[in-house]
Amino acid sequence: MCGIVGYVGYRKILSVLMDGLKRLEYRGYDSAGVTWPEHGSLVRVRTRGKLSRLEEALEEHRGTDSTAGLGHTRWATHGEPTQQNAHPHSDCTGELVVVHNGIIENYYSLREQLTAEGHKFKSETDTEVLAHLIEKYLQDDIEAAVRKALADASGAYAIGVLWARRPDVLVAARKHSPLVLGISEGEAFMASDVPALLPYTRDVIFLDDGEMAILSGSGINIRSVTTGDDIEKTVQQISWDASMAEKAGYKHFMLKEIYEQPDAILNTFRGRVVPGTGEIRLPEIGIGREVISRLKRIVFLACGTSWHAGLVGKYWIEKWAKIPVEVDLASEFRYRDLLIDQDVLTIPISQSGETADTLAGLRIAKERGSSIVSICNVLGSTITRESDGTVYTHAGPEIGVASTKAFTSQLTALFILALFLAKERNAMTDEDASEKIGTLISLPGIIEKHLPEWHNQCRDLADEFYTKSDFLYLGRHLQFPIALEGALKLKEISYIHAEGYAAGEMKHGPIALIDRNMPVVAIVPGDHVYEKMISNVEEVKSRRGIVITLGREGDEELKRISNAMIACPDAEAEINPFIYTVPLQLMAYEIALARGCDVDQPRNLAKSVTVE
Ligand code: AGP
Repeated sequence: MCGIVGYVGYRKILSVLMDGLKRLEYRGYDSAGVTWPEHGSLVRVRTRGKLSRLEEALEEHRGTDSTAGLGHTRWATHGEPTQQNAHPHSDCTGELVVVHNGIIENYYSLREQLTAEGHKFKSETDTEVLAHLIEKYLQDDIEAAVRKALADASGAYAIGVLWARRPDVLVAARKHSPLVLGISEGEAFMASDVPALLPYTRDVIFLDDGEMAILSGSGINIRSVTTGDDIEKTVQQISWDASMAEKAGYKHFMLKEIYEQPDAILNTFRGRVVPGTGEIRLPEIGIGREVISRLKRIVFLACGTSWHAGLVGKYWIEKWAKIPVEVDLASEFRYRDLLIDQDVLTIPISQSGETADTLAGLRIAKERGSSIVSICNVLGSTITRESDGTVYTHAGPEIGVASTKAFTSQLTALFILALFLAKERNAMTDEDASEKIGTLISLPGIIEKHLPEWHNQCRDLADEFYTKSDFLYLGRHLQFPIALEGALKLKEISYIHAEGYAAGEMKHGPIALIDRNMPVVAIVPGDHVYEKMISNVEEVKSRRGIVITLGREGDEELKRISNAMIACPDAEAEINPFIYTVPLQLMAYEIALARGCDVDQPRNLAKSVTVE
């Protein structure tokens, strides 16, 4: 996610902005920029890459005595990570600038309208639209102009606005993207996150959706974006140290990212599905209906957790779009004699977009004439640049090595892609698609609601089982990949040997392992293979095995035969993979914690495996 820092008061602006941006680096970024008022106009300095390059570019401005300004680190969502696309963005006059974190969903239509009205755009970003929109409404009241502009925009935003004619005032506003204000005598701060404020103040106000703030050296006024009415807010005192603050108060990035999953899923489907109509929008997919109609096969290429996402996607695409799907480990795919041609759609799935085996597989498939549509979390990464199109996950930067929010965001992208392909091939009615969209849209709320209780249950499970040396995870159908994913989570952060297995395979070997020392984790939702899973649990119990089950709230039969049971909401079968993944992530996290492991940086692992 992008990082925003704003200041107005008595301190030299460059040191405040750069110090603040450095404290937000953990959020991940690919370009950065700052702006401040000087001699009646605005200075704007932007660079691609890390803050060190911005600092070099600022050398010549060291002498500025300005004491107000805005800074931004950009995590690209629309438009490549270039200097031209770096924030702050300005209007036509250059007298007004905006920094933004979020996604303006209707930016394209707004850009067309503003262009028709004579505005000249200089970047590919959705953010620049806001600068021109404010310019359109600006006469002599910057606050009113911002309110009018935000009334036209839809989507998610945290913004900072600076106008050369009011050099001692910043305007801030938020909807769905975080923005925190810092209060101190004779000065005011704004930032995407608390760490940027800690060197100066611990007295903060968290803006809520639909609120805006006017910052000046004499204080901060909070108002409603829609009405302009004053709003009274409570000042809170931050007790975190800087390290805890980077993790938003969470002990580890992994835990923060597990809890961010409702937002990550929401941000991935936001703007792509239209509730009530069954409409699916994937303008960035890069292939047309003609290619989609003639497809004979789809091949997913991926590694690790991303491969597990592909295994889930296979069920949805084959069921809804009626296209055969193969899910290939990229490290195997690239060395086989391949039957790939122009009638095959190859879909690399990668959080980082830099995984060497996946990239190598992409290039081989492309040489053989296959269309390439990637699913990726990093805009402008190598895999995306070599694809015909990309369905981006909008999970934000994933810092923990063990993938969590990126995985459920990949599932979200695959769910949407399966519906899109089904519609494009006339294999699904608008009504059915609308129903599935409704199910998807319910997910963030379901997960948000159950996270705290799941976490409590997983803490208890960890206390009981963290000393075990072997685990077996079992699942069927849509839950088989989730069993694999749960086992991978546990092994990669707790170093416990854990195997994921198709439950139907138990009697073909793994059942020989069952004893009272090896916990068996069985995923048992109320789907069409429920009875089969109950039999598996009984098989384990009859051999004095230990069974930890994940099942429906109120499933007393399952609870009776389980040593421990994590209760999950009864949901539509197609979204169970999302729901059952989260407790498994939390269980792995708490067991690793109990074993004193480095959860965010597990031994021997890298976040992006760019070597073969
Ligand atoms: C998952 O928790 C691991 N970090 C690892 O398996 C990862 O999924 C794999 O290396 C693929 O990475 P990618 O998604 O960036 O391509």
